[in-house]
Amino acid sequence: MNRPPRGPRPIRITQQAHPRLRVDGTDLVTRPMTLEDAQGIRDMHERCSPETLRLRYFGPLPRLSDAVMRMFTNPERGITLVTHLEGEPRQVVAMTNLMDLEPGEAEVALLVEDGWQGRGLGGVLMRYALALAPSRRAQVITASVYASNARMLSILKSAGAEQPSMTGLILDVRLPLTSSPTETAPCG
Ligand SMILES: CC(C)(COP(=O)(O)OP(=O)(O)OC[C@H]1O[C@@H](n2cnc3c(N)ncnc32)[C@H](O)[C@@H]1OP(=O)(O)O)[C@@H](O)C(=O)NCCC(=O)NCCS
Repeated sequence: MNRPPRGPRPIRITQQAHPRLRVDGTDLVTRPMTLEDAQGIRDMHERCSPETLRLRYFGPLPRLSDAVMRMFTNPERGITLVTHLEGEPRQVVAMTNLMDLEPGEAEVALLVEDGWQGRGLGGVLMRYALALAPSRRAQVITASVYASNARMLSILKSAGAEQPSMTGLILDVRLPLTSSPTETAPCG
């Protein structure tokens, strides 16, 4: 029977196996966020330029309250990955959100702090997010992106996103997932 997917699948990500990346000689670890990462994430936002925050949040930075942190880490709502310097979990350099929208659909949003932008990290994080989509039972990934955000649009296009049919300041980009669902996630 063809039932709509209900609720997230259990996520098979462990805290033991984290993908490692070497970016310009620095090792980075990407793993699911926990509430212990809240301060590192707040610090990372403070290092970001107003332009970077505008591109991510489309306005003033929302207050990164404890409630927001709980939402980021709530497995009923989605999954958030933090990327930090290896061995320095407080030194967060990027955050990846994959949050449920409606059944079968999840929204991806990336934030790479300014000093780490343009070095290929965003493209890798998008691949991690896509690999996690089956754990959210998502068949479509969406992203809201400023039409001027060449980097994010390039990442989405490379990942197979549809050409947005609309025009305007902010584009809603759709990325249908064609591969058969698998529980394999890059983080574990
Ligand atoms: C958008 C963002 C996540 C991209 O991450 P990044 O690590 O800087 O990007 P990458 O180095 O992986 O490059 C991404 C793409 O942009 C291209 N690119 C790199 N520098 C660029 C530049 N100055 N101008 C245009 N394109 C550029 C790369 O060639 C790459 O293209 P490809 O995926 O087709 O190879 C990051 O810049 C960021 O956090 N920006 C602010 C917040 C934001 O815009 N979030 C997205 C809203 S959901």
